[in-house]
Amino acid sequence: MSYETILVTIEESVATITINRPKKLNALNRETIQELHEAISELEEDADVKVLIITGSGEKAFVAGADISEFADFSVKKGKKLAAKGQELLFDFVENLSKPVIAAVNGFALGGGLELAMACHLRVASDNAKMGLPEVSLGVIPGYGGTQRLPQLVGKGRAMEMIMTAGMISAEQAKNYGLINHVVTQEELLPLCHKIAEKICNNSSVAISHAIKAVNAGFMNTVNGYEQEIEAFGACFGTDDFAEGTSAFLEKRKADFPGS
Ligand code: COA
Repeated sequence: MSYETILVTIEESVATITINRPKKLNALNRETIQELHEAISELEEDADVKVLIITGSGEKAFVAGADISEFADFSVKKGKKLAAKGQELLFDFVENLSKPVIAAVNGFALGGGLELAMACHLRVASDNAKMGLPEVSLGVIPGYGGTQRLPQLVGKGRAMEMIMTAGMISAEQAKNYGLINHVVTQEELLPLCHKIAEKICNNSSVAISHAIKAVNAGFMNTVNGYEQEIEAFGACFGTDDFAEGTSAFLEKRKADFPGS
């Protein structure tokens, strides 16, 4: 398997996928999402692979979000499509994969980055990691499942605060919130993920795939929530606030929202 934006290695039944755009803090562009979909599909079919680990390249970021430069000029229709396609190709796909997926959060996990980590079945973070959903600071809302999965993991009140303030929380706070399972140093991050993967590999793969389905089924009542998120995400692309929020990010200045 050879890709432009990701690296894939397989070691003793465990596949590690590294999102590899360090200069852009591993932001998810269209190509990265497509390549992740293809790699994960292949690994799901590969009988030698039992567990997947997803991490980011470099020491700074897991994934700093969806690539803002790609969608800053999108219309309502294109915005809605962006969310729907991303959810289908990557976020829902990962959550419903028949094999366990561990997020090794090695730095910033913001916006689509945190949404990707939340779509994984469990999360381990390094102590430098920072997590948040900063979308409303850009005049948009999380569109890759964040409005649904964050409240599932941390509770509604904490999720509302994180989404409305657009702030970041530390790895330690994320652990207190139940957003991640373990915090370790950056050096210990992948070894710990491998240790967890090893324990998983000792168990029945068939039973684990049924367990994933059963656990996910308990959250199925949120299906309409994902649709609502896609509609609302798309609607943001028709606002002056979105035009101002994304321009301000790309021009490296503070946004001055007109409120319309
Ligand atoms: N989309 C596109 N490019 C991004 C990006 C994103 N989500 N996140 C970071 N980058 C790019 C920056 O534009 C910069 O590119 P440049 O060197 O060509 O100018 C590069 O990655 C490095 O980021 P920079 O902002 O210079 O690093 P920093 O250490 O000053 O700040 C962050 C780090 C994570 C706080 C900051 O990059 C950030 O706020 N990113 C956007 C997070 C976000 O809003 N995500 C949600 C998107 S919906």
